[in-house]
Amino acid sequence: MLIRISPVTPIDIDPLVTLARVIWQEAYAEIITQAQIDYMLEQRYNMPRLLAELDTSGIWWDKAVVDGRLAAFASALLTDTPSEMKLDKLYVDPARQRLGLGGRMIDHLSERALTQGCTTLILAVNKRNERAIGAYRKHGFIEREAVRVDIGNGFVMDDFIMAKSLR
Ligand SMILES: CC(C)(COP(=O)(O)OP(=O)(O)OC[C@H]1O[C@@H](n2cnc3c(N)ncnc32)[C@H](O)[C@@H]1OP(=O)(O)O)[C@@H](O)C(=O)NCCC(=O)NCCS
Repeated sequence: MLIRISPVTPIDIDPLVTLARVIWQEAYAEIITQAQIDYMLEQRYNMPRLLAELDTSGIWWDKAVVDGRLAAFASALLTDTPSEMKLDKLYVDPARQRLGLGGRMIDHLSERALTQGCTTLILAVNKRNERAIGAYRKHGFIEREAVRVDIGNGFVMDDFIMAKSLR
């Protein structure tokens, strides 16, 4: 499996949004309502927002291309807490999951975090997303706290914050 990880560029956005829909539908249909899936996809994966994020310092978007096809993407950002970087998104094509791609992306982001002077990688994951929690534990994250975040329209994110020490 030939994996190439590189920054997302504007021409990647359309295929990335298409892939995000496929992954979200598969991953979240049994965890949150369809209305919440649609709301969150619209909120997070619209062209103006993604173009703005690609242009923002302190936010990084990366993609993994496998055998010439977009197979995964991730984004990371600096938080207000010094020395912490947040893994904000990590999504792997269902056809390519459990092959180590998520781990490769986490390694890639960990290296970036270190070069940015960060010693901890954090993330938020839905408490019922057992597959992802399993993947994050496998790759060195541990649960730090539980949070409930109001995201508008009557929806909440019911998450664990997980952290991985890079020291
Ligand atoms: C979570 C995710 C990013 C992990 O990426 P990945 O490439 O599948 O992960 P890796 O191959 O590096 O690690 C595999 C581990 O992930 C977990 N995992 C991934 N897919 C799984 C599945 N279908 N069933 C059970 N465990 C699974 C297991 O812990 C697995 O380890 P194992 O094979 O030794 O049991 C990916 O599965 C994904 O995109 N899931 C759907 C979207 C999502 O939930 N993203 C996270 C949002 S916070």
